[in-house]
This record gives sequence, C-alpha cells and structure tokens, in this order.
Amino acid sequence: MPTRPIRVAALAFACLCSAASSAQSPGEGLEIGRKMLVEDNPGELWLDRGKRLYHEKRGPKQASLEQCDFGLGPGKLAGAAARLPRYFADTDRVQDLESRLVTCMVRLQGFDQAALAKSAISAPLSDGSDIESLALYVTSRSNGMKMDPPLAHAKEREMYKMGEYLFHRRSGQTDFACVTCHGESGKRIRLQDLINMTEPAGIQGVVSSWPAYRGSHGVVRTMQWRLYDCFWQMRLPELTYLSDVSIALTTYLHRQGHGAVIEVPGFKR
Ligand code: HEC
Repeated sequence: MPTRPIRVAALAFACLCSAASSAQSPGEGLEIGRKMLVEDNPGELWLDRGKRLYHEKRGPKQASLEQCDFGLGPGKLAGAAARLPRYFADTDRVQDLESRLVTCMVRLQGFDQAALAKSAISAPLSDGSDIESLALYVTSRSNGMKMDPPLAHAKEREMYKMGEYLFHRRSGQTDFACVTCHGESGKRIRLQDLINMTEPAGIQGVVSSWPAYRGSHGVVRTMQWRLYDCFWQMRLPELTYLSDVSIALTTYLHRQGHGAVIEVPGFKR
C-alpha cells in the first residue's frame, strides 16, 4: 500500500502538535490540527486495503472472508459491527469484532491463531496489520448506523456486568480504575483531554469512532489496542489480545454508548 502520504500526514501532524504547544491554549491548537486532518483522513487507505483483503482468497485454505458471520449471517456486513460484541453459538463465546474476525481467519482461511494475535497490533509508522485494515473495513459497513449491541443472552449480560466491574475497580500499583481517568469532565493528562465516559455524549463519541487513524503513530488503531494502551498506562499486567477481560470492557463501553452513530475511520491524536 502507498505509505508515503501517510508518513507525510504523520509528520504534518507532529508539526501541528509542536505548533500547538506554543499556541495560547494547547487544546485550541490541537483542535484545529484535528479538524484539518479529519477532512483528509489517511485511515481511508486502510479502509481500501481492508476491503481488498476481505474479498481476496488468502491463507492455507485459499478462501476469502465473504462467508464470515459477524452475527447477522454469513457475508452480511451492513450493521453487523453496530451489534458487537455479541454471543456466538459456534464458539460458545461473546466475541468482539476482532475476536470474531480472527475466528473466521482461522476457520475459513486456515491462518494460525497465535500468529494472527502476535501480528495484530502493528508497529507505529508501519503499513499496519491485516487485522487493523479488516476491522476498519467491516466496521465501516455500519457507518451511519446506531450502536446497539444485544444483551439478550445470559453470557452477554455476564460480559456486560464483568466490564462494568472492571471499569470501576481500582487495581495495580497506581490504584487507578478506568473511571479515575474517564469519570469526570474537563480532566487532562499533559495535552490529552480525558474523555468522560460516564456521560452519554462522551461515551458515544468514543464507541462511534474506532478503529481510528492515530496521527502520532501514523497507523490505524483498533479498540483492542486502545484498551491495551490504557492497561499499560495503569501499569497493569499486559492485556492479552482478545482476552475475555478486553471483550468485557468493550461490551460495557459499547452498551453504555448505545445510540451512537458509527462513523469510521475516526481520527485520534
Ligand atoms: C491514567 C489515566 C487513564 C486510565 C486509568 C485509563 N485511561 Fe483510557 N485513556 C487515557 C488517555 C490519556 C487517553 C487518550 C490518549 C490520547 O489522547 O491518545 C485514553 C483513551 C481511552 C479511550 C479512547 C477514547 C477516544 O478517544 O475515543 C478508551 C476507549 C479508553 N481510554 C478506555 C479506558 C479503559 C477501559 C480503562 C480501564 C481499563 C482506561 N481507559 C483507563 C488515560 C487513562
């Protein structure tokens, strides 16, 4: 894929950030930078690549992902991401978008699960991983639709409860909970605004915008990555990719943000 324009965009973004630090209010400068880049979101390149990967016959079984069932039936992508995480009978598990994607890449295409998990989160300023591109493409097919994950199955309700607990539970050496940083409006760490996820506008803005192009990394990032990074900020043990802990948190966040209109790729600093 063409990487040059992305690197340029990332560089432009870095410049905007340093320019912002000398502006009167850092928040203001960043806001202008964000707006400028949102209009020309480099994440679109990942979206195109995701679409191509979805239809391409790949892996040891030389199959496409066109028969993957994201919850609405094989190949039915429109609106599927808006209803995730959800319970899947064939895996007997509540799955988020990425874990479901991996299930399909293993079962339909014959890829190795451990290898996929290992390469899922790409290095900054790289071309990104297949999973990042595919997650963005599949989510984009719910653009304009409202987030509405189901809580009908007992396992979905269990996941939601677990996520709610994890979101509020203080732990680790810093004794932070998610809610410590994301439970009040107007908080900030360095230049970064901390989103209040306990009020509807805040959480809706979050759940409608991932996967997102992350300017400071020059790649598209997914919700799994975002949670991994917040665990790291909390100095907790490394969050295992696709673990129930990560899916429980996503179930809780997506449900709290229900009604949000999905619009990806999002754009983050
Ligand atoms: C020490 C403070 C801190 C804690 C604790 C924390 N986060 Fe975060 N979180 C941040 C920061 C800072 C950002 C934004 C970083 C940025 O701008 O790049 C963020 C961003 C996020 C986002 C993305 C928001 C967006 O822009 O869409 C999500 C989702 C999130 N956190 C979830 C969580 C969850 C779930 C937990 C608990 C497991 C958690 N965070 C704990 C600091 C924290």
